[in-house]
Amino acid sequence: MTTLIELNPAGALLQWFDHLQVQLPWRGSRDPYRIWLSEIMLQQTRLAVVESYYARFLERFPTIEALAAAPLDDVLKCWEGLGYYTRARNLQRCAHAIVNEHHGQFPTTAEALQNLPGVGRYTAAAIASIAFNQRIAVLDGNVMRVLARLTDLAEDITEPRAQERLWQIAESLLPTTRPGDYNQAVMDLGRLICVPRRPNCEACPLQQQCRAFAHHTTHQRPVKKPKAERKPMNAVAAVIRDEQNRVLIAQRPTDGLLGGLWALPGGFCEPEEAMEDALQRLLRTNLKLEISVSQQMAAATQDLTHLRITLRAFACQIIAGTPEARGVAAFAWVSETELDQYSFGKADREVVNALSQWQPRLFAE
Ligand code: ADE
Ligand code: SF4
Repeated sequence: MTTLIELNPAGALLQWFDHLQVQLPWRGSRDPYRIWLSEIMLQQTRLAVVESYYARFLERFPTIEALAAAPLDDVLKCWEGLGYYTRARNLQRCAHAIVNEHHGQFPTTAEALQNLPGVGRYTAAAIASIAFNQRIAVLDGNVMRVLARLTDLAEDITEPRAQERLWQIAESLLPTTRPGDYNQAVMDLGRLICVPRRPNCEACPLQQQCRAFAHHTTHQRPVKKPKAERKPMNAVAAVIRDEQNRVLIAQRPTDGLLGGLWALPGGFCEPEEAMEDALQRLLRTNLKLEISVSQQMAAATQDLTHLRITLRAFACQIIAGTPEARGVAAFAWVSETELDQYSFGKADREVVNALSQWQPRLFAE
């Protein structure tokens, strides 16, 4: 094991942090609810986007009790556009757990926090150190990069062994005081100075002790094997209107992909399956409707963790049946103006927004 004896970034980092005073909406608060919310939002979303949602979310759900009492639909609606909707469902499950099992109080140690839905090792440590001053290190993507450079780590940081090593390094560098500020200082450094490409080493408070800087390897660190490519998937959706020109929408089952969100009715094509056949199959199984499929109306793409989805929406007509919620949680007929009130995934929202502009092709091309 390499020795880290001469590495001692805490003093310089805290000085830099105090001087810079990065203002974020949750900085200065010790309210675990506010800290927790910020950390869940920041798990998979960029800071600038989080800042634009954070205040609105808190206004709508000012306390953990308010969040626990709200319908899931309202939570999802407030989350729309942030992506990774499992977070929004876990957010509410976590609120239920705190209100029902913890008398409305957040547990105060990382170990206990980790038992909450959606709270992993990183998030638990962030909340415990920032809200409760527990001396415990955090490790997220930004911190990994900083530490891999600081120690000039040659191991692939996507490997569990290297990550375990980085957790140890993080723990060993933690100062005895101000753990929350120190953790946030490392995160700020990773976001503002020790950035993925072209780290700004000239402005870095850790330059004198940084091993990658000394060895001219900053651009080779961290070592990271490339992510597997997203699997391309074709999705299809039906645009069906009733006599009042209302559009049929369906709510996805809570436990599946994009669970609880609304969508135009449809789903994934099987490999080799024609889109028209897929639509007919999906509407039959999920809503007990027989349909005919005509022109494509709109298309949109959406990236999920392992998938790249191309969604195509087709004008369809019901040939037989009235909708029954079979493979969906619910369905609704809604006017175009009411569509705003429902929470959709990114691709569905784009397609739905395009509907009002769509003009039918009158002649074959
Ligand atoms: N990234 C995640 N949590 C953060 C925090 N509290 N401060 C800065 N960056 C973060
Ligand atoms: Fe990152 Fe450069 Fe600072 Fe090292 S000196 S921690 S590589 S910004």
